[in-house]
Amino acid sequence: MYIFVFLQPMDYQKLFSADVPSFMRSPVREIFRKVDLSAICSFAGGYPSADTFPLSSIPALARTVLDKYGSKALQYGATQGVPELRKLIASRYGVPVERVQITTSSQQGIDVCSRVLLNPGDSVMAHSPVYLGALQSFRSYRASVREISPDGPAPKFIYVIPDFNNPTGETMSLEQREELVAIARLHDCLIVEDSPYRELRYSGESVTPIMELAPERTLHLGSFSKVFAPGFRIGWIIGPEPVLEQIYICKQSLDLCPPVMDQYMAAEFLGSGELDRNLEHTLSEYRSRRDLMLSLLEKYMPSGVSWTHPEGGLFLWLTLPENIDTVALYDKALSRGVAYVAGSFFYPDGSHRNTMRMNFSYVPIEKMEGGISLLADIIANDL
Ligand SMILES: Cc1ncc(COP(=O)(O)O)c(C=O)c1O
Repeated sequence: MYIFVFLQPMDYQKLFSADVPSFMRSPVREIFRKVDLSAICSFAGGYPSADTFPLSSIPALARTVLDKYGSKALQYGATQGVPELRKLIASRYGVPVERVQITTSSQQGIDVCSRVLLNPGDSVMAHSPVYLGALQSFRSYRASVREISPDGPAPKFIYVIPDFNNPTGETMSLEQREELVAIARLHDCLIVEDSPYRELRYSGESVTPIMELAPERTLHLGSFSKVFAPGFRIGWIIGPEPVLEQIYICKQSLDLCPPVMDQYMAAEFLGSGELDRNLEHTLSEYRSRRDLMLSLLEKYMPSGVSWTHPEGGLFLWLTLPENIDTVALYDKALSRGVAYVAGSFFYPDGSHRNTMRMNFSYVPIEKMEGGISLLADIIANDL
């Protein structure tokens, strides 16, 4: 039996660290707290389609891992990650195993790079609009975010998502990547190349990753979230050894080691060739969804609305006439059963209120036409 005795009201605020006021709530995650996603047509989140998860293979995969590794799979593991997975990633990307650190997914990759590199008052350069999870991390270390430029004081690092950017879906050309490397060399700073969507290409030609153009100054972040399942929280950093060494020390206090069973499952999935077989199915599923969304936008959107044509990833980006405010429009859309993310949330200064991010991986194919025609109607009524 518990007896609750409140002796004295406590002032918790005064105990929080000086970093806490810089913590930023994600408006995207707030949407998920309030809304039952299955009850509406949600183009809001970045969720992969559950149809791409290798659900039926998981029991056999777990069985194989337990037969192969026994209790080792349930034990604490090395902070750098289990050697089997590190070796497989090193050989897939053609780098020495010493340059691979496993992370508890790529969000931790962003955060641990920020933690090792940023002091309060430092700056990070990034293109706007920028991935919200990265913005949250940079701000939590009290760093400021500036546009990428050869001018002004040197940042600690430049953050980019060169392949199928979240939120716009756009891909940087080789020339743009070379220009970025030149800017990083000028500032003598690092580049954080966040690359969780790189394997999700549906059309066009693959572009050289930045880590190959400037291996001495690039921290390349990868993830199993979009090619296996995000419930397994496994990602990796490929980078210069002196930086990885600091990340390794820092990670000891963060989580001791990445989840061991998850790592062995990922290693088995990758090493057996099943990841690549499953990826073929994922690519064809997402290619159809992207093509369908593009054709529905063409069919239903009123004139004055334009959008990006991504070659991969999970998102595209809409620009509406200047007078439309997608933040104000959001509640109306939600009450009629359709959700998106207002584009201004991805701008550090909250500008560009006439834009929105649309995800095409989550809504089932058969619901997409209803959702896009509804959204087009809501926009047309607001013009
Ligand atoms: C650009 C980008 N980086 C990182 C992440 C984090 O992914 P995870 O931690 O699941 O690897 C996401 C998630 O959607 C993302 O869009």
